[in-house]
Amino acid sequence: MSWKKAPVLLPALFLLLAQWATAEPLALEAVPKIQAVALHGNDHTRLFGATGEGLYVSKDGGLHWQLAYPFRLPATMVAEAPDGTLWAFVAGKGLLKMQGDALLWTPVSNGFGAQVLTSLSVSKKDPQEMAALTQFGKLFKSSDGGKHWHKLELEGKRLGEAARRGKALYAEKCQSCHGTEGVGESYSVQSFREKGYIMAPPLDDSAHAWHHTDEALVKTILEGTSRPSRMPAWRTQGMDEQQAGDLVAYIKSLWGKRALECQGPKHMQCMQPDSR
Ligand code: HEC
Repeated sequence: MSWKKAPVLLPALFLLLAQWATAEPLALEAVPKIQAVALHGNDHTRLFGATGEGLYVSKDGGLHWQLAYPFRLPATMVAEAPDGTLWAFVAGKGLLKMQGDALLWTPVSNGFGAQVLTSLSVSKKDPQEMAALTQFGKLFKSSDGGKHWHKLELEGKRLGEAARRGKALYAEKCQSCHGTEGVGESYSVQSFREKGYIMAPPLDDSAHAWHHTDEALVKTILEGTSRPSRMPAWRTQGMDEQQAGDLVAYIKSLWGKRALECQGPKHMQCMQPDSR
């Protein structure tokens, strides 16, 4: 968000917060469908629910509910860690945590691209160690309390020389839009609100970068895409075929076996929904 917009947004946010604080609790049958639930703290009547229209809390064991976080964005996960910290995932805001009893959420990270977390577990022995699962069944791990996440399937993977060069180039020129390890651009409040906002797609195998041949990927990188968007035509920025090839080698190191075997036109025969 640019600071120019802040004066317009602040009163709106204030109104929203005021409304949030005074809203009447909803009876259970009026609450949007709950997809995840967590009891919190020592009080077993305090229950949190993640719904497609926001994060809710009940203070009477689940009979009545109110918003626990002031944004009505899809909440996909809520879980209590052994140390009593409450964790939640809200699309557009990312991973949030709440310590103590006040409904104050701290943003921890928003770097999962087009994926949302559906399940999370925190080590009892060392709360810095965490594991999480996305809606696509991808496992992620963090060793720093949720600030940075790493795809489990890439752990220990060795990169060839071209992919190593591509990795450095990717970090410098592509990651700001396409995300760490190619997860894609993360939802933001701007991406929800701005009409026609085109997200930078994942380049790992969670979307369809792998439906394109190497040549087609090189071409997109150098020439840009057919519609006007933020994706630059990198040739105009001085990039050559070899660098684009290195980038493709790195991008392909982010793909699993199925995507590699089914790359390009072959992907049509490989589209079994439950295969990975
Ligand atoms: C400023 C943001 C931004 C940057 C930086 C950026 N991209 Fe993109 N990229 C996009 C957007 C937005 C799209 C989607 C365009 C569309 O759909 O028309 C895209 C699309 C693509 C696609 C097509 C994917 C598909 O599935 O068809 C490829 C490949 C790609 N980018 C590679 C790269 C590479 C490699 C870099 C770094 C050299 C890069 N991009 C840097 C925003 C960006």
